[in-house]
Amino acid sequence: MSVLYAIVFLCLVSVSNSATLVCEDLVRPIDQLDHIFVGRWALAAGGLTTLQSAYVEKFKTRDSASIHFLNETSKMTLMRAFSFGDSCYYSNSSITVGESGFSFADYNTTVTFLYTSCPDCMLMRFDNESKDPLRLYLFSRSREMKEEEVEEFKAQAKCFNMLPPIMMDPTKELCPEHVSSDLADPNDATTDGQKA
Ligand SMILES: *[C@@H]1O[C@H](CO)[C@@H](O)[C@H](O)[C@H]1NC(C)=O
Ligand SMILES: *[C@@H]1O[C@H](CO)[C@@H](O)[C@H](O)[C@H]1NC(C)=O
Ligand SMILES: *[C@@H]1O[C@H](CO)[C@@H](O)[C@H](O)[C@H]1NC(C)=O
Ligand SMILES: *[C@@H]1O[C@H](CO)[C@@H](O)[C@H](O)[C@H]1NC(C)=O
Repeated sequence: MSVLYAIVFLCLVSVSNSATLVCEDLVRPIDQLDHIFVGRWALAAGGLTTLQSAYVEKFKTRDSASIHFLNETSKMTLMRAFSFGDSCYYSNSSITVGESGFSFADYNTTVTFLYTSCPDCMLMRFDNESKDPLRLYLFSRSREMKEEEVEEFKAQAKCFNMLPPIMMDPTKELCPEHVSSDLADPNDATTDGQKA
């Protein structure tokens, strides 16, 4: 009995090690969403499909971007902040949260949260109405990514036949947030953004 257990255990260990960069594992949705809706996330990297190559230059004009989910009594809002040079641009979108992601009230776009091995990251896949993946966005709380986490994201983008990911500069300041809730600490936000 214990020998059998040991063999099964060894097989499981070797499977989980060798499967690290297999697409089947890299593209799977997650089911634990709770932690995602808390606090602010900074954009770390983006992956775009070849059909969106016209969007690459626009994407690169952002110095930084961050998002924050706001859970008000009966509705969820996705708040976004983008910095371009010295100016900040803000936008809010109403969203409906589902089992493994959310959808926008005003666009035919659904978002699915995907697996990532980075513990303080969040990965979103944007699909159009025919459920074709359009974009991948990797967000980080600390904005400090390990080399293997970056490599994993590149592999994930490749699994979706995307262009090589665009990496954000983590030293660029984030826009100040206009959220007055205990989830957002403006002092934290400032130190985060000024980290050089
Ligand atoms: C939003 O807040 C309500 C009330 O606290 C809670 O029941 C719900 O699960 C929250 N939604 C999300 C997506 O966190
Ligand atoms: C987004 O919503 C928050 C909270 O309601 C509000 O403080 C902020 O001004 C809104 N931003 C925009 C751009 O509408
Ligand atoms: C979303 O898709 C439906 C069905 O294809 C269409 O009727 C509707 O106009 C679309 N809405 C937007 C905002 O594009
Ligand atoms: C969705 O995107 C795919 C390619 O990514 C495209 O072929 C398809 O026409 C798009 N569908 C809609 C309804 O926009």
